[in-house]
This record gives sequence, structure tokens and C-alpha cells, in this order.
Amino acid sequence: MTSKPTDHTTSDARSVSFAPTGPLTGRITVPGDKSISHRSLILSALAIGKSEITGLLEGEDVLATADALRAMGATIDKKENIWTVHGVGVGGLIQPETAIDLGNSGTSVRLLMGLVASHDISVTFTGDASLSKRPMGRVVDPLSLMGADFTVRTSTDGKACLPLTVRGLCPAVPMEYRLPVASAQVKSAILLAGLNTPGLTRIIEPVLTRDHSETMLKGFGADIAVDVDQDGNRIISLVGESELVPQTITVPGDPSSAAFPIVAALLVPGSDITVENVGINPTRAGLFSVLQQMGGDISFENQRTVGGEKVADIHVKHSKLNGIKVPADIAPSMIDEFPILFVAASLADGQTTTTGLSELRVKESDRLSQMAEGLGLLGVALTEKEDGLIITGSGGQPLTGCATNTAIKTALDHRIAMSFAVAGLVTNTGATVDDMSPAETSFPGFIDLLAILQSAAK
Ligand code: S3P
Repeated sequence: MTSKPTDHTTSDARSVSFAPTGPLTGRITVPGDKSISHRSLILSALAIGKSEITGLLEGEDVLATADALRAMGATIDKKENIWTVHGVGVGGLIQPETAIDLGNSGTSVRLLMGLVASHDISVTFTGDASLSKRPMGRVVDPLSLMGADFTVRTSTDGKACLPLTVRGLCPAVPMEYRLPVASAQVKSAILLAGLNTPGLTRIIEPVLTRDHSETMLKGFGADIAVDVDQDGNRIISLVGESELVPQTITVPGDPSSAAFPIVAALLVPGSDITVENVGINPTRAGLFSVLQQMGGDISFENQRTVGGEKVADIHVKHSKLNGIKVPADIAPSMIDEFPILFVAASLADGQTTTTGLSELRVKESDRLSQMAEGLGLLGVALTEKEDGLIITGSGGQPLTGCATNTAIKTALDHRIAMSFAVAGLVTNTGATVDDMSPAETSFPGFIDLLAILQSAAK
């Protein structure tokens, strides 16, 4: 099964309108965790022998990673619900024959740049209009210190961008690197480069970001240790060149996807839903804690650990929300959830203030400006700051909705598209989203799942 990343650059009949709805009810599951899915494929491709993965996210981003790994020698197939990966071993990637198109997926390109950096191969990566605008210097810089060589396109504002070519160095040079930006993608790129590098690669992480790479590398048998120094920095130490052992992996539901039906249920009067089997790793669960502090009735049932990750069934009931000052230091644990938090804040009672969010400007879109623009069209009172939004909520009253013939722009960003789909449910006149197709990158079946929650109450 191969797939080509969809080109989201042309928007035609992809606009969808979301109308006010009755209560959302029922029990659902959401697709597998995107971060864990990418890492499952990548680490399995480096193990010698057969790994099996269930619950893999079959969104375009993850399928792009699978295709890239196939092009570099891994054998990846799906039978019934199980994905099998026959890996090539650490250091065993082969030269792909053509450039690799990673569509919309920043995680794919940044992690794979790390992988290639310590192999004796040269790979050109391309992406769609959104990915081609995103900054790659944060990965190019550390990987260059390890000896990889890059040719990049320089954007008009001087950023290193796609298309770019990585020429790996084997053996690469191990290093100690202090992360200048709180980014799990940068951390993971360096760790993946370190796997095929002799000696000790050390990463100093001043701000904790999602820790799936560290957990999974340990599970695959890598020589990795995590400590905390006296200043509170996390120190990740990886000794390269050990073999990885194939694994059987169960991917939990993605908390970043669960966020959409959860906020929808909080906002739509009379709702009562359960999202089953959602990952609640503390490095990812910031949104749930913020929503609870706002007064959200959210409970974690049947808590368990699956494949080293904490999982729960999340039970949510419609709630009256209050505005909140969101502390900047919670941002890394909910970095992808701010667009949908802004929707929740728009219906809350009082003001919600967010700061420290300049990273949102370099995601799949500039999420601060896209959300400010779209919420403005729905009648929300807000101020856009350089590093956050200040939103005055409606106190539970429906938002006005879009004017006729007006569509909210999603700018090739799946999380903007899904956030405004949810917002449309709590308007007077509905909201039209100009292009829902980006939802396929992380949440295939999103619109159908919303419809299931709507119809269960009838
Ligand atoms: C991801 C890390 C985050 C997140 C992205 C997935 C990952 O990006 O926004 O959706 O899987 O490592 P940054 O590392 O750039 O914060």
C-alpha cells in the first residue's frame, strides 16, 4: 500500500459548512497518535527483523513517512489491521532513487533529516506550500554540527526552507547540544542521527517537550538514559551504534485529535460523550488540565498503561467555562491544542489570556493570525499579540457565525480546519470552512465522527 501526499495547494469544492447542533452524545475512538505513529515506523525501519504495529494513524502525514522509509529500503505493509515493518538495521538505509515529497508533514521531514544525517546517503526533501514555508534551520544547525551537509532554499526572509538536500556523514560526529527552542522534533532529529553515530550524543533540554522518542528508543533497546541536572534541565544521553530490536507496538488514540470532540462536547449544551483509549502522557495533556481549570467536566476513566504510554477513556459533559490566564510554561504540553483552546475561550465567561506562543506562528500555518482572523469573522472579541491571543468569551452564548458568502481560511492547516468545524456548531448561523481536506493529514474521518456524535442523540 503506497500513497502520495495530497497536494492541498488548490482549494476547489472542499469548503464545508458546520451548522448549530443539538447535543453530542455517544462513545467514540479517535485515530492513532500522530507522533507515536511516525516514531513507530521510523524505529521499526531501523530494527533488524519484523515489527508489528496496531492502531497506526493512517493519515497523510504518517503515510508520507512510510513511503519515505520504503524509498530508503524498509519493507512496510498492512494486512488486516496490522502494519508490519521489516527494518534494515541501524546504518542500513539505502540511497533513494528520487526526491522525497513529504506533503504537509513537518514531523516527517525533521525526523527523517536526522535519520539521513548519519547515513552515507544524500536525500532531497520537498513538501507542499505550507511545509515549504516552515523553518528548517533549527534542524539544519545541530545536524551540521554532527557533520551532515545541507543545500537549502533560502526564503525571502532569510530562513532555511524546503526543498533541501541532506548529505549524511558516516560516521557522524557525536556532540552535546542544548536545545535553543522547545521542540520535540529537533530533539528527535538529533537522537535519530545519534543512533548511527559512534559515542555519546547528549541533548540538554531546558523545557520538557513530548518524550515519546526517549520512551520508544528505550523500548527498542537503544542505549539511552534520561537524567535531570541541578538546574532542572533534562539531560538525554544516547550511545550510538547499538542494534534496535523489533517490537510489537500498540498506538494509543491521539490526544491532539481527541481535543476536537472533547471541546465540542464541552461547548454544545446537553452533550455527554466518552472518547475511548486516548493517550494522556503528561507531556501531551496540558489542554485537558487547562479545560478542567476553566470548569470543564472532564474525567479520566479506566486509566491504564499501554506500551509504556498512559491511556484513559475521557468522559466529557457540557460545562459552563470561565476565562483563564494560561501560564506560558504549560504551552509545550499542549502546543498543538491552542487553536481549539481559543474556540473554547470564545464561549467562556470572561477573558482568557495566552502568552509565550510565538512557536504557533511557524506551525502548519501562522496559527495566531489564522485563528484571530477566523474567530473575528465569527464575531469573537479578541486582541492578537505577538505571542498570544487575548479573548473575551461570550459567556456561553452562541457566536454570531459567518456572513453569507464568507468562508474561514484554513491555510492548509488541519488543526485550524477542525477548530472552525467545532466553532461552527456553537454559532447562530453556522460557519463555512474554505477547505476541510487538510483534516486528512491527522484525523481521517473527522467529519463522519462528528456526525456520529450528532446522530446518537436523535
Ligand atoms: C511533534 C512535535 C511538535 C508538534 C508536532 C508533532 C512531534 O512540534 O507541534 O505536531 O511529533 O515531535 P515541535 O517539535 O516543532 O514543537
